[in-house]
Amino acid sequence: MKTAGARARSNMALVKYWGKRDDALVLPHTGSLSMTLDSLWTETRVTFTGEPGDDTLLLDGAPARTGETARARALLDLVRAGRQELGAARVESHNSFPTAGGLASSASGFAALAAAACWAAGDEPDARALSILARRASGSACRSVLGGFVEWTRGERADGEDSFALQHLAPGAWDVAMAIAVVDTGRKEKSSRDAMKDSVQTSPFFDAWVTTTTQALAQAKAALAARDLERLGAIAENSFLRMHATAMANDVPALFWKPPTLALLEQVRALRHDGTGAWSTIDAGPHVAVLTAGADVERVRRALADVPGVREVLVARPGPGVERM
Ligand code: DP6
Repeated sequence: MKTAGARARSNMALVKYWGKRDDALVLPHTGSLSMTLDSLWTETRVTFTGEPGDDTLLLDGAPARTGETARARALLDLVRAGRQELGAARVESHNSFPTAGGLASSASGFAALAAAACWAAGDEPDARALSILARRASGSACRSVLGGFVEWTRGERADGEDSFALQHLAPGAWDVAMAIAVVDTGRKEKSSRDAMKDSVQTSPFFDAWVTTTTQALAQAKAALAARDLERLGAIAENSFLRMHATAMANDVPALFWKPPTLALLEQVRALRHDGTGAWSTIDAGPHVAVLTAGADVERVRRALADVPGVREVLVARPGPGVERM
């Protein structure tokens, strides 16, 4: 038996990834940029049993759903490639946060799984190789391999070897934070994977999304280098609104917002109007993450918690990349 454990944090994109140019290799149409979130993590232990059989996957103590198990197995197969003596894997995974729709548990989950599986098999991939492996399971997972502020490069190659995570700022290099308002802890109706595929195939806005995101990424990297929170926040708000507009325009519309989502966007505007620097972003779900200065995050947290329909507000700061457990 060979076993290893890993902890990886979730991440929140400020310049969103939305659309693949290669579904099998998970290659994006554009680069993206995220913050790794210290308090939202997944811990995963992988044990290769050395025996033939089916892989088993427990998520917070319960057997995973078929789709999740299939994606995990595909990742484990990449690690096992040509080494069938490793045998079936037992995977146990725990999240520090609710696996609510749109709270990116796939990012931390697949980054932790990729690392734990490699380490259990006796491999020592560098961050680049690990992020490429995690990317194959879920695009956003490649960014969770590294800490702080992380770019996922689009790359040009058909084999995806130049599409991986790059760190722009280490965790600790900038005192900013996110307050994440959770409005619904149920599972979301449509997966981001299916909705983004629909956008690539049917959204009349998809080409404009690609063009503007490529520009936004360059601007966001410049804002990050200058530690210009106001500029970065404004770019992040444009990015999520354009992503959602693209998805709403799919032939089968993908609309992730609930009434409290709009109320939260209004609350963030009110905070800004009253002089607190705070900027929203929303993934493929109803929750609203708010970027702010470290010194303001408690005030922002309280303001978000006041909005009707908000179940809880999580606070996160830039966190580290994947760690051995
Ligand atoms: C809206 O990484 O979950 O969170 O690559 O199909 O697994 P797959 O998709 P996933 O999509 C994340 C989309 C997003 C934006 C982002 O994180 O950049």
